Amino acid sequence: MCNQKGGVGKTTTTINLGAALAEYGRRVLLVDFDPQGAASVGLGINPHELDLTVYNLLMEREVDIQDVLQPTELDNLDVLPANIDLSAAEVQLVGEVARESVLARVLRPVVDDYDVILVDCQPSLGLLTVNALTAAHGVLIPLECEFFALRGVALLVETIDKVRDRLNPRLDVDGILATMFDARTLHSREVVARVHEAFGDKLLQTVIGRTVKFPDASVAAEPITAYAPNHPGALAYRQLARELVARGDAA
Ligand SMILES: Nc1ncnc2c1ncn2[C@@H]1O[C@H](COP(=O)(O)OP(=O)(O)OP(=O)(O)O)[C@@H](O)[C@H]1O
Ligand SMILES: [Mg+2]
Repeated sequence: MCNQKGGVGKTTTTINLGAALAEYGRRVLLVDFDPQGAASVGLGINPHELDLTVYNLLMEREVDIQDVLQPTELDNLDVLPANIDLSAAEVQLVGEVARESVLARVLRPVVDDYDVILVDCQPSLGLLTVNALTAAHGVLIPLECEFFALRGVALLVETIDKVRDRLNPRLDVDGILATMFDARTLHSREVVARVHEAFGDKLLQTVIGRTVKFPDASVAAEPITAYAPNHPGALAYRQLARELVARGDAA
C-alpha cells in the first residue's frame, strides 16, 4: 500500500482489506512499515510497549521473525508491528549491504505461511518504502477523491518504474483505489473520471466511500468489518478483497 501523500487511506485500506481477506479464509500478514504505528494501533496492539518490532527484525540479524509477529483478535490475521523506533531505520539502513532488500530478506522465512502479505508504507518515497517495493509483487495505490489527488502520482509511478528496472522485475501496479469518495459531490465523480482517463483499468472498480465509521473503527481499534460488519464501508472492503482475488492479485 503505497502513496507518499499523507492521509489518503493507506493504513485504513491495509487493515480493512487484510481483515476482509482473512474473513474469506486467506492467511494474512500485515506489515506495519510506518513509524507512526497506525496499523498496529488500529488492530488493538500498543506497539510502544513492545520490545521487538519490525525495526529490530530489520536491524538485528539474530532476531527471529516468529518472536516479532503478533496475532490479532481476528482469525487468520497477524501483524508485524512497528513503532517510532522504525524512524531510525531509514538512516541506519543506508550503510547496510543490499540495503533495498532487507525487508524482502527478513520476510522470507514466513512467506509460505501466508496467502497474502500487505505492507502499510509511510507517506514518503524513502528507503523504507523502496524496501517495501523491492519485497512486493504489486503495489496498490490509494488515492483520495480530492482535487490534488493526482499530484505526486507521477513521481510515485516513476519510483515504481525505477525499482522494477533495478531491483524487482516482477513489480507491478496492481491497482489504484479511489478512497473517501463522496457521491453527493460532483467533485468526487470528476476526480474518479480523471483517474480513469489517466490510468484506465488500473483504476479498481471498487470505490471506498467517505464515512466517519472509518475513524470510529480506528478509535475502537478494530477493522470496520468487525466494528460495523454490515456498514457500506465494510461491504466495500469485502468487495475490494473479492475484486483483487478475482484479478489474481490476492491468492
Ligand atoms: N473512506 C474514508 N472515509 C472517511 N475517513 C477515512 C476514510 N479512509 C480513511 N479515513 C480517515 O482518514 C484518516 C487518514 O486515513 P489513513 O490513516 O488510512 O491514511 P494514510 O494514507 O495511512 O495516512 P498516513 O499517510 O499518515 O499514513 C484517518 O483518520 C482515517 O480514519
Ligand atoms: Mg498510514
